[in-house]
Amino acid sequence: MKRILTGIQSTNIPHLGNLLGAIIPAIALSKKPGHESLFFIADLHTLTSVKNPEFVKQSTYAVAATWLAFGLDTQKSVFYRQSRVPQVTELTWYLNCFTPFPMLANAHSFKDKSERLSDVNAGLFTYPVLMAADILLYDAHFVPVGKDQLQHLEMSADIAGSVNHKLGQEVFVIPEALIDERVMIVPGTDGQKMSKSYNNFINVFLPEKELKKVVMGIVTDSTPLEAPKNPDTCNAFKLYALLADEPNIQTMRQNYLKGGYGYGHAKTELYELILNKFSEQRKRYNELMNNTALLENELAVGEKRADEMANQKLKQLRSLLGYA
Ligand code: ADP
Ligand code: TRP
Repeated sequence: MKRILTGIQSTNIPHLGNLLGAIIPAIALSKKPGHESLFFIADLHTLTSVKNPEFVKQSTYAVAATWLAFGLDTQKSVFYRQSRVPQVTELTWYLNCFTPFPMLANAHSFKDKSERLSDVNAGLFTYPVLMAADILLYDAHFVPVGKDQLQHLEMSADIAGSVNHKLGQEVFVIPEALIDERVMIVPGTDGQKMSKSYNNFINVFLPEKELKKVVMGIVTDSTPLEAPKNPDTCNAFKLYALLADEPNIQTMRQNYLKGGYGYGHAKTELYELILNKFSEQRKRYNELMNNTALLENELAVGEKRADEMANQKLKQLRSLLGYA
């Protein structure tokens, strides 16, 4: 049995890029036989950048409702909020004391953030150690992540190796990053990578009118309606092609090439496709967001299991470190 684990920060409502690039593939992976999966909301990591409790709470619910609306089964996968299993912070301390300072000082993500952000706090610096604790606490074998997280995963593996070596036994499983090279980079409405930081994202849960406005706002060039158009350089087509089935993609491609088909038509088709394709998930998401008691119940199932797993690991570690 191999254990898969991944976390997603609660910094906003997940967008189409998060869905196609992370959440949908992770749920598919969790349904494969021979795997046990843990998915969590990294709300403690969120505090490195956001200090607004109400926003964090709502984003946490939004992330939870998204995973559930897209088919996460809380009976099969362990689904929890990081902050509700605070044992992870105790493990972070132990791991801090096994982590060489230069390893953290050389992290790309810290260098990048410390140049960009005004709040350069120590949490930002030790972020990778909390991430290692997330993974090592539950003996995860594989961690599906985007490429930007690869260095963090290498650090987790190094820290695990260092503890095992110094304590003279296999305390931790050495985790491996699972990076799916085929996963597409979903373009945003302006053609750059879709990201909450660029404000170019599509939130598929928006009410119809607002969703339509966002989709109609996709940036296209000024080729007139009658003229033939190149589908491969058009954001509206690229997004359509990530969601539609093959015959429909071919039809839209031909429409672009033959002319007399405007970008407005393509965007309307994309908007309708999003509504149709995600109609169940939109409904479920709204039900959950309007019933946070139900969300809390779903999370409580996983939090209980995660708590038990965490206690076992910490018991072993406390004894090895001379605290028990
Ligand atoms: P954002 O860029 O909006 O801040 P995050 O960095 O929080 O998104 O990403 C959360 C997860 O979603 C990561 O696994 C990341 O690889 C994936 N992801 C984010 N944006 C995209 C995108 N445009 N295309 C594909 N995957 C994405
Ligand atoms: N740092 C990850 C991100 O921003 C989120 C995260 C926190 C995570 N802990 C993790 C991912 C453990 C995988 C495993 O995307």
